Parts: sequence; structure tokens; C-alpha cells
Amino acid sequence: MSTIDDLFAAGRPKSRQLYEQAATTFPAGVTHDTRHLEPFPIYVTHARGPRKWDVDGNEYIDYVSGHGSLLLGHSHPAVVEAVQQQMAKGTHFGACHELELAWGQLVKSLIPSAERVRFTSSGTEAGMMAVRLARAYNGRRKIVKFQGHFHGWSDQMMPAVNPPWDAPSSVGLLDETIATTVVLPANDLPLLERTLAGDRDISAVVLEADGASMGTVPLAPGFLQGVRRLTEHYGALMILDEVVSGFRYSPGGVQAVVGVKPDLTMLAKILAGGLPGGAVAGRADVLAPLEYKKEPGHQRMYHPGTFNANPISAAAGVAALRIVGTGEPHKTANASAGQLRKRLNEAIDERQASACVYGETSIIHTYIGPCERIGSCDRSLCTNDPARLKGMRAISGGLRRALLANGVDFIGAMALVSATHGPREVEETALAFAKTLDLLLAEGLAKRR
Ligand SMILES: Cc1ncc(COP(=O)(O)O)c(C=O)c1O
Repeated sequence: MSTIDDLFAAGRPKSRQLYEQAATTFPAGVTHDTRHLEPFPIYVTHARGPRKWDVDGNEYIDYVSGHGSLLLGHSHPAVVEAVQQQMAKGTHFGACHELELAWGQLVKSLIPSAERVRFTSSGTEAGMMAVRLARAYNGRRKIVKFQGHFHGWSDQMMPAVNPPWDAPSSVGLLDETIATTVVLPANDLPLLERTLAGDRDISAVVLEADGASMGTVPLAPGFLQGVRRLTEHYGALMILDEVVSGFRYSPGGVQAVVGVKPDLTMLAKILAGGLPGGAVAGRADVLAPLEYKKEPGHQRMYHPGTFNANPISAAAGVAALRIVGTGEPHKTANASAGQLRKRLNEAIDERQASACVYGETSIIHTYIGPCERIGSCDRSLCTNDPARLKGMRAISGGLRRALLANGVDFIGAMALVSATHGPREVEETALAFAKTLDLLLAEGLAKRR
């Protein structure tokens, strides 16, 4: 057994026991793919601000941040109070309620392209709805998506989530469905133009606003603007996936930063303040199939959903978005993330490790692999190859175990910083990362330049 595995397993006997039980109840023993970790994942009892604790009493600085939903940190007092009050009043009225209206109005006021909003229960559902609305709008059948971009696990969005791009990312998909998703490399506007010009059956182009997998593969400057221009020109819709970036890059998401107005925006995560929830926001005429109109020829899109805009998620969402709207959480989270990126790159340089830490706003990515600019690294990302950047999975188990053994929880090779992560968390994480790098280098999971 390696030192990393020993260190990880030694302090976590209860987590191991629980996992052994879970493996006989859940396939793979887990309830979300990214929680899978060899030889077992940690079981968490509670969390507060930037930290969480496991069943064995270990404390962690948490960068999973509720899979990105907790920009305000765990159990923000305003969110807790709003949810507690609502619990006492009722969790589901099976009826319209004032909180859903306040929630929708907040989305409209923050997201520049949001003329209308429809709540769903998740980001995956928001993607399903956006694609169906696009098809209903222009009567075309296909979508374009980009290599490595993730838009939830619906059939049509699944192709090319992970390399190899031409193999289905999942079993159980129909060839007929996959054939309606055209996969392209991102950042190639001439290719996108040729594709849109050559296939008038493309209904929409969908992309993560910050690049594949929360910005793991950054978008080239101007690409979003190019997608906007080309979709408009060729009569396709632009669906911007801001499930992660919405409310995180700025109160109005990436679109408010770069000044691009998509036709439809997918939202979730921070939207619901750490509770389940998603939404499609966008042009009133594109969301119009959801209207009940008596006009001849009007065809409806059917959309039920037991927990759409449920009062508990709405209460949390309203409380969170009111704070998000001030822009204050972004200042703290971005400053801590910037400082952390600097400190982690220093640890890499000190060891001359072949690695790089990068990212924007409050998102941090770790790339451990071959360096392009050996000897002249300027600490910026030197490759934009999605297969290489997303290929981090091969070592991310070792990275995650080593970080956990040192009191830090990353989501794979990624860290999502909240407004509660401050200088103390930065210092402790830098130290833990340095120890982790030493372990990875010693075990050959990372190499020197
Ligand atoms: C960019 C992006 N889009 C869509 C989704 C799917 O959202 P959900 O997990 O709420 O279904 C995710 C989830 O991580 C995501 O990162």
C-alpha cells in the first residue's frame, strides 16, 4: 500500500465501515459519481462556513462547496433562518406562493437576458427544458455542444462529456438520440460557422459559459461573442449553461461580465442557496410555448415537476440571491481564490513540479501533467487540450486522497471557494497542498519539470 493510501485509510475507520454497508445498498456505494473514491469515500456529519467534519472526527477545509452551490459557505445564517421559518409554515402547498415570485423576480433582476423564468428541480432538467424549447421555437432537431462541456446527464447532453469524444460517455443511450448532438471542439469559430452553414437542422448551440467542466478547459477570449454572432446569423439559438457560473462569476453570471445575451440560460446551484433547484431563463418569445394562449396555432410545451419552485428551495434561493445581488460575496471569494492560486503555484515552483494551478474568479483548477514551457513557466496554463485537461481523472483519486489526509477536500482536481474562505483557510490549504505535492512526487503521481 502507498503512503497516501495508508495516511488516508488510517484516520477513517468509520467511513470505511459505512462505505462497506453502502456498497450493498447503492450501486458503487455512492449516490453521485464524483463522490466515488477508492478505497472508500468520507462520510460527513456536519459543516459550517468553509469547513466540514467526518464521522471519524476529522476536520476539512471544504472546496466541494455543495458541488458549487454554496458561494455563501455552509449554513449561512440568513439561509438557515429563511428555511427554518418556511419549514414551519409548510414545505409544499401544491399552489402558487409569494416566495416563488420573489425568487423569479430576483433572477430577472440579476441575469441580464432573463425576460422570463421557469423553475425546475435541477440543472439537468434546465438543460432538458432549454433544448426542448429551442426545438419548439425553430422546429429544428439537432444541437451543437462542445468537447468536454457538461450540461447534466440527460440523453441529448451526454455525448463527449469525457474523452474519447467520439465514444458515448454512457451506456444506455440511443444511437438515434446521440446522432442529434453534433460535437465540436470549442474555440474554433470557423468550424462552428461551417457546421451551422452546412446543417440548417441545428436548433441550438449549448455551452458552459466558463468553459468545459467549470472552466477546466477555458474558452478563448471572444468565443462567446462569436457563438452569439454565428447563432444569430444562422437562425440557431444560443443556450448558455450558467449552472455553475451564474451568480458566481458576478451577480449576473458570465453574461453580465462579457456583455453577451444568450437566448436561453440554464441556471441551478447557487440559484437555490444550497437546496435543490434549477431554472431556464431567457427570451419571452422563446419561453412562450409554456404560456396558455387561446391564439389559433399556439402549441404548448408540457412542463409539470412536483418540486418546481418548492417553498423551501424558494426560501433559500431568495435569501441567498439577496446577498449575492450585493456583489460582496464575490469580492471575498475571488480574493481568497486569487491568493490561493498564487500560493499553490508557489508550492509547485518550489518543487519544480510539472503542474499548474489556474482558474477564474472563485474557481481553482489543478493540472498535474506534462508542461509545455519547461524552464520558462509563467504560471499560466500552457495547454488548452481538453483531453489532457480533463484527463486529470487518472491521478485525481490520489490527489484527493492525499489532500483529504491533509485536511482539505477538493472536488476532483478542482476547488470552489466560498465567501467564508479567508486568510486562515488559504494558509492551511497552501500547507496541505505542499505536503500533498511531496506525496504525489514521491509516489510518481506527479513528475518534476
Ligand atoms: C455546467 C453544469 N451544467 C449542468 C449541471 C447539472 O446540474 P444538476 O447537477 O443540478 O443536474 C452541472 C452539474 O454539476 C454543471 O456543472
